[in-house]
Amino acid sequence: MDNSGSSTTPGSHLGAPLVELEGVNKHFGDLHVLQEIELTVRRGEVLVVIGPSGSGKSTLCRAINRLETIDEGEIRIDGEPLPAEGRDLARLRADVGMVFQAFNLFAHKTVLDNVTLGPRKVRKLSKSDAETEALELLDRVGVKNQAAKFPAQLSGGQQQRVAIARSLAMHPKVMLFDEPTSALDPEMINEVLDSMVRLAQEGMTMIVVTHEMGFARKAADRVVFMADGQIVEQDTPEEFFTNPKSDRAKDFLSKILAH
Ligand SMILES: Nc1ncnc2c1ncn2[C@@H]1O[C@H](COP(=O)(O)OP(=O)(O)OP(=O)(O)O)[C@@H](O)[C@H]1O
Ligand SMILES: [Mg+2]
Repeated sequence: MDNSGSSTTPGSHLGAPLVELEGVNKHFGDLHVLQEIELTVRRGEVLVVIGPSGSGKSTLCRAINRLETIDEGEIRIDGEPLPAEGRDLARLRADVGMVFQAFNLFAHKTVLDNVTLGPRKVRKLSKSDAETEALELLDRVGVKNQAAKFPAQLSGGQQQRVAIARSLAMHPKVMLFDEPTSALDPEMINEVLDSMVRLAQEGMTMIVVTHEMGFARKAADRVVFMADGQIVEQDTPEEFFTNPKSDRAKDFLSKILAH
């Protein structure tokens, strides 16, 4: 399939719905943090979620991974409603990889052990099979030579790439990224974004909360703008960044473009 030609219609490389949210509502006490969210992410799609602080972006990601419950509505992964608990929930967590702002690696384990732990426990791989695959994944994100080190001996950018490799080792159907570069020093941001762009080009389905417009323009099929718990508008990155429709989005973009 040729995705490179300008004759390709936008979205034609996308597959069936993989992540579906229907009428999703969530409250934190009096705060209506997710309001009537309707969202479908198709297989192979890269969705960037953008919006002001407190608009509900992290809560949205955490709900999709069932780290937060919802009050109303339904979330489906690959056609299956999110399980509430138990073995099915563990399987869901393997299907939905998540990379957070903080690196969340196990500090007392080597890089290699961080990446092989899940596959050995959940996917029941042998130590040697898990290590072979882990080294391939670490190579893909450019940190294979760090495999024997402990997380504290790595830069933030290297740790975040290990976190990506660790998620990929579970063979997720979709990867969620919640501001994966916002805790990094500027010179390390690109090495992480480059790994994410490559992942997108390989066809991974991705939901990425980020204000990195370069990434959105290079890799995103669609940008979703959230404000006050609602999806206010969504469009292609080109259209959204050059021609935002709502006042909220115009105001937000003028602020992030100003610095
Ligand atoms: N566990 C919680 N209990 C109560 N309120 C919460 C909880 N988690 C988040 N909130 C509130 O919900 C709102 C949305 O938070 P969320 O973290 O989803 O925003 P965000 O869009 O990710 O913001 P940021 O850009 O700062 O990361 C905020 O007002 C926040 O204070
Ligand atoms: Mg957040």
